[in-house]
Amino acid sequence: MQHDLEVSGGIHPLLAERFSPHKFDPSATVDDRSLGLLLEAARWAPSAGNSQPWGFFTGRPGERDHERLVRHLAPSSARWATDAGLLVVTLAHRYVEDTELLYSEFADYDLGQAVAHLTVQAQVMGLAAHQFRAFDMAGLTEELSPSPGWAIVSMIALGRAADEPPVSRERRSIAELRSGPWTLSD
Ligand SMILES: Cc1cc2nc3c(=O)[nH]c(=O)nc-3n(C[C@H](O)[C@H](O)[C@H](O)COP(=O)(O)O)c2cc1C
Repeated sequence: MQHDLEVSGGIHPLLAERFSPHKFDPSATVDDRSLGLLLEAARWAPSAGNSQPWGFFTGRPGERDHERLVRHLAPSSARWATDAGLLVVTLAHRYVEDTELLYSEFADYDLGQAVAHLTVQAQVMGLAAHQFRAFDMAGLTEELSPSPGWAIVSMIALGRAADEPPVSRERRSIAELRSGPWTLSD
């Protein structure tokens, strides 16, 4: 794949070439070793106080857990996520068991970092990731019955991309990132 420095601003190709595919190659499987490496990458993410407030439920085509996940996909994500070699449900440890006390103020933030690690590791391995919210949250929560204090946050489809990144991809400018609504007048 072409690494376009104009578009990427010179960032590392692993980051520049990452995109969320809308088509996966159904013949590309994710073996145990690859699955282990993806989770290992997530495991080594930083977290507030090293709280590691993340959990991952996985299913691959042919596994019973995959069927349990596929049935809760929204029609929009089912179109491409079903063909992915791996589905992952991400969970955050938000509260101390059976209390309203926060387990970590940064639970969702840290989970996001762990997922970022995982997606970059996937890219290294020639796999692509498409994170998504298009699933039945209530149905999936009932299905998986997370431990008290834990909440499902998102899903990720991973596999070999079978499409190309869109020709035009929009991002806010660096100037805009640096001059948000928090900027007070001089
Ligand atoms: C938390 C989260 C939820 C998302 N939910 C969906 C979704 O429900 N459906 C979808 O097609 N893409 C979803 N995406 C993918 C984004 O739309 C995508 O990352 C964004 O458009 C930028 O495209 P790119 O990843 O190809 O750069 C989600 C991404 C994240 C991080």
